Amino acid sequence: MTGLFITFEGGDGTGKSTQSELLGEWFTNQGREVVFTREPGGTDLGLELREIVLHSRNHIAPRAEALLYAADRAHNIKTVVRPALARGAVVIQDRYLDSSVAYQGAGRVLDPVEVRNLSLWATEGLLPDFTVVLDLAPAVGRERLDAANKRFDRLESEALEFHTRVRDSYLELAAAEPARFIVVDATLDRDVIRDAILARLNER
Ligand code: TMP
Repeated sequence: MTGLFITFEGGDGTGKSTQSELLGEWFTNQGREVVFTREPGGTDLGLELREIVLHSRNHIAPRAEALLYAADRAHNIKTVVRPALARGAVVIQDRYLDSSVAYQGAGRVLDPVEVRNLSLWATEGLLPDFTVVLDLAPAVGRERLDAANKRFDRLESEALEFHTRVRDSYLELAAAEPARFIVVDATLDRDVIRDAILARLNER
């Protein structure tokens, strides 16, 4: 059995974790080994890096931020994702290199091609088989986070214009690689979203 690498992308408050769980359940019911991971923070080292990149009180220069995410990614891919794929598992990951292109590229205004290449170097060129973008207007995402009373991290605290650039970047990435991406309206009912994702996966 060959491994499958599926990533979830989208703004904050779009329901990525709920959909990851639903998809994981489906694969488990098919008898597949499912490995959940996330970036930043899918490993012990990653949790330390996550604390820095999301909660440091110090200013972090945009390129340093990009490198911190890339460091987390390099370690997660090498120690968690590649071994799981080699065993034939389905890896379902919350955020991957498209997050860096959207947040550090479009959000922080670094060159998106350089940011992508940094991640490709970090991961020895690993691309997902399938990427789900849960698309949501940033203002709605913010309302959801407010309602959940969540502590805002360094990125979530950015202005709506930042998050609008992030959203637009995801839509551009999806349009450029239609075979890898599926974009789903995150305001739809959770079961409707799940069915849309499964239908697309089955097509493939
Ligand atoms: P989350 O794990 O709660 O989604 O938070 C991770 C935050 O980090 C989120 O605001 C998006 C941001 N992020 C980047 O800016 N670049 C990246 O490469 C990744 C993986 C996440």
